[in-house]
Amino acid sequence: MGRAAILLGLLSLPPVFAGEIPAERQAELLNLLRQDCGSCHGMTLKGGLGPPLLPEALAGKSDDFLADTLLNGRPGTAMPPWRGLFSPDEAAWLVKQLRKGPS
Ligand code: HEC
Repeated sequence: MGRAAILLGLLSLPPVFAGEIPAERQAELLNLLRQDCGSCHGMTLKGGLGPPLLPEALAGKSDDFLADTLLNGRPGTAMPPWRGLFSPDEAAWLVKQLRKGPS
């Protein structure tokens, strides 16, 4: 993709997240969700080594609790901390995506 296309992508950001997370970063995060999270939680997030991450499974859990799980992992379980790979804002955004269900 050329520079012009990247610029265009940034300019055409949907206003939904008030410009917090650029479109290209969103694509990266969704890719990470499928590839890295999918390796434990299943490609369609229905569960594997890790529990399902579908909206029904997360319904009773708060956004903060889930974002904290993403950032810090669950000590004593296979769920690793992802703090180095995405920011708290990005973790909150990923939780929103999980609530929507896999696209
Ligand atoms: C190495 C395997 C592994 C990977 C990779 C992994 N997880 Fe997990 N995850 C787990 C396990 C195991 C648990 C259950 C922890 C427990 O028993 O409390 C878990 C728990 C969770 C929970 C809490 C679910 C609940 O119902 O409380 C969320 C949310 C979650 N993971 C999201 C993610 C996301 C998003 C990614 C990618 C950024 C990811 N996980 C990557 C293994 C993994």
